[in-house]
Parts: sequence; structure tokens; C-alpha cells
Amino acid sequence: MNKEIISLKEVKTFRSRSEEFFPIDWYKQMHRNTPVHFDEGTNTWHVFKYNHVKEVLTNYDVFSTEGPRTTIPVGANNKEGTLPDHVNIMVDPPMHRKRRSLLSAAFTPRSLKDWEPRIQHIATQLIDTIPENSTVDIVQALAAPFPGMVIAELFGVPIHDQSQFKHWVDILFQPFDKSNQKEIEREKQKAAKEYYQYLYPIVVQKRLNPSDDIISDLTSAEVDGETFTDDEIVRVSMLLLGAGVETTSHALANTFYSLLYDDPFLYEELRNDVELIPQAVEEMLRYRFQISKRERTVKKDNDLLGTPLKKGDVVVAWMSAANMDEEVFTDPFTLNIHRANNKKHLTFGKGPHFCLGAPLARLELTLALKTFLQRFSRIEAGATFDLEKNLTDSAPGQSLTSLPLKVYR
Ligand code: HEM
Repeated sequence: MNKEIISLKEVKTFRSRSEEFFPIDWYKQMHRNTPVHFDEGTNTWHVFKYNHVKEVLTNYDVFSTEGPRTTIPVGANNKEGTLPDHVNIMVDPPMHRKRRSLLSAAFTPRSLKDWEPRIQHIATQLIDTIPENSTVDIVQALAAPFPGMVIAELFGVPIHDQSQFKHWVDILFQPFDKSNQKEIEREKQKAAKEYYQYLYPIVVQKRLNPSDDIISDLTSAEVDGETFTDDEIVRVSMLLLGAGVETTSHALANTFYSLLYDDPFLYEELRNDVELIPQAVEEMLRYRFQISKRERTVKKDNDLLGTPLKKGDVVVAWMSAANMDEEVFTDPFTLNIHRANNKKHLTFGKGPHFCLGAPLARLELTLALKTFLQRFSRIEAGATFDLEKNLTDSAPGQSLTSLPLKVYR
């Protein structure tokens, strides 16, 4: 379905990219003054408090994932770039349960265990190319390529095609606004078509000769007699790219930003005790992942958020703001990897649509960080770094384009 795009840029005009990259002053203000906010420009409601966000994401009888408007302009609007209706996962239970189960065939705990050495290999490969005692742009060297390479490997795409693969991903998930929507949509449709034509024969081949990868798992997935066709697998794979590549890159880049600028002692602490890495990853997802938000459409009139909502209204749940709620997290505006409840963050969502790739994302982040920590004894910020000049619009918000850091063996 061709959904109308809600531009969140119009909800709050930030004074700078840096402010949008880490909008905690705005969150503080919204928590204090207007935790349930109606924005006239976009005709949408916005919630920022933890309990409200949780209610919107979990109460699917009232807040629906289906609806004619969306905040996420990803994919392309041609046949190749959209999901066929009966495998579209952005629907409510009970329909959602079956569709999600079908897709889950590729994300079992066993698969994750099998994938670990392959993900480790990619992390080692990228990190080994960083020269010792040099200044490296960690976004270009690691954060940007790593998740795309991992997913290409897990799809079973031949290594020599992986840069072409990344090129399609970059085009398909680039942001647009009203001024350039038509032009970018044309580029996306072209990329979706090329991607489709590339992957389709690979899917056909893998159905005949399955191996140990996501595409092969999807060819044999079956729930109550339902299976994926080859066409559906290609289109579903695009959903996985959209959900899993940019998000994980963003989390990794911001983790390094945080190690440099939020707590300069943390790198050494983690190096001395790598068992702390999973806790650090959770806290980074809570504290430094500022692009998590999702919309839902009101199914029936209600006042569950303390204000009258009408059927058809759109509510945007700001998970990143909920992660900064003082009623849930003590001293939320500080990075603290030792906080007891940091795993309570809502960065991966909550309820039936909770991120299917969360275990994979956590594994990627943990392995990348661990491999890096084991190779370099110390890092320092590059001499001149102007955050404002190193950010760019991404589909869900501001992302780092480069982050220089000095690395010491
Ligand atoms: C740091 C990385 C990631 C973040 C922050 C993230 C975040 C999210 C969030 C917030 C949702 C819930 C959407 C909603 O409630 O409407 C979601 C859903 C989803 N994610 Fe992720 N994600 C990440 C990585 C991944 C990866 C690596 C994959 C797989 C390759 C993936 C696959 C999915 C899928 C398939 C869904 C839809 C689940 C459903 O609707 O049942 N994600 N993700």
C-alpha cells in the first residue's frame, strides 16, 4: 500500500543537526510540559513518557500498526519494493502472529549460534585493516560497512557482489522530504528493480540447493501449511535490509562516539573486563540511540493517554524519549553501563512487533566492540572534530557520516 509519509521534521524544528542528534533538552521539556502533545502541522499525536509509549506499542486492540500514514519513508513504491499483502508483517494480531512465525524461521537461536563465527570473521577482517597508531574514520572503516556485509553474508550473497549489494541498500533507505520525494522515489524504484532481478535467481537456486543461510531458511519455512514463494522471499528480504542495516550501523557509530565523548574512561574499563560489553551495548542503545520512534493508528475512540483520542488519529511513540524517563531510569541523562535496569530500554520496541532482529543486532554490536577492544589498547578523539559537520539526515533522524579516532596498539 502507498502510505502517506508523516514528516517528523515538521513536529520539532531543531536549531542544529547536533541538537537533533541528541535531543534530550527537548525530551526534558516534553516530559515536563506536554507529555501527550498534538501537532497541528502534521495532524498527529506524540507521546514521550515510558508508560505511554509502552501502552501505544503493546495495546494493539486500540493502537494499530495498520493505517494509511507512516513516519518511515523506506523501500520503494513499485511491485519489487513492497511486500505482498499476505506476508506483510505490519499488521495486528492475530494475523501478525502467523506472518511473524514464518519469518522467524530464519532467526532461531540455533541460527544465531551458527552465524557467530561468520559475523566474527567479518568483524576481524574489517578491524584488521585499521592500521595501528593511526587516525581512522570509524564510521567508514567499520560502522557503515559491517551490518551490510553481515546481512549479505547471512543471506548467502557471493562475497564479490557485496559492494553492489550495499549500493542498493544505500539508495533504498536514503531519506527524502517533500521537496525531493519524486526524484528519490524514482531512484529507489530503479534500485528495487535491480535488487529484485539480482536476488531472484539466487533464491531459485537456493531452493534447489539449500545451504546455511537466511534465504535458504526462508525457502523451507512453513507455518500451518503456508510457505513463502520465491517472489515473496526477495521482497521480504528487502524488509530485513530496511530493518537491520542502517539501525545497526547507527548503533555502532554512536557507541564509538559515546566512548570518545560521553565517558573517556569507559574504553579502559571495558578492555579490562570484556564481560561488561553486553551491559555497555544495552546502555548505548538506551542512551545514544536517539532515532527510535514508531507510529500507530487509533482503532477506537479512547482516553487511555489521558486525553480524548479519536478513531483514525495517528499517535507517534518516541521510544528514545521514553528511554530518558526519570520515573523509570534513575539519573537517565547520564551514561551508566552499571545501571540495573538498562535492558528495560524500548529501543527495540515492545509488544508483538518487538524487533525480530534484536538478538542479531546485539550479537553484531558485541562482537564488533569486543574485537576492536582486543586489538587496540587505547583510543582518543581525532584532533578537530565538528559534530555539526559530520551529521546527515537519515531516514529516521541524524546519523554520523564520519568519526575520526586515534587508535593505539
Ligand atoms: C540496533 C539495531 C536495531 C534496532 C534499534 C531495531 C529496532 C526495531 C524496532 C523499534 C522495531 C519495532 C517496530 C514496531 O513496533 O513497529 C523493530 C522491528 C523489526 N526489526 Fe529491528 N531493529 C534493529 C535491528 C534489526 C535487525 C538486525 C533485523 C534483522 C535483520 C531487524 C528486523 C526487524 C523486523 C523483521 C521487525 C518487524 C517485527 C514485527 O513487526 O513483528 N531489526 N526493530
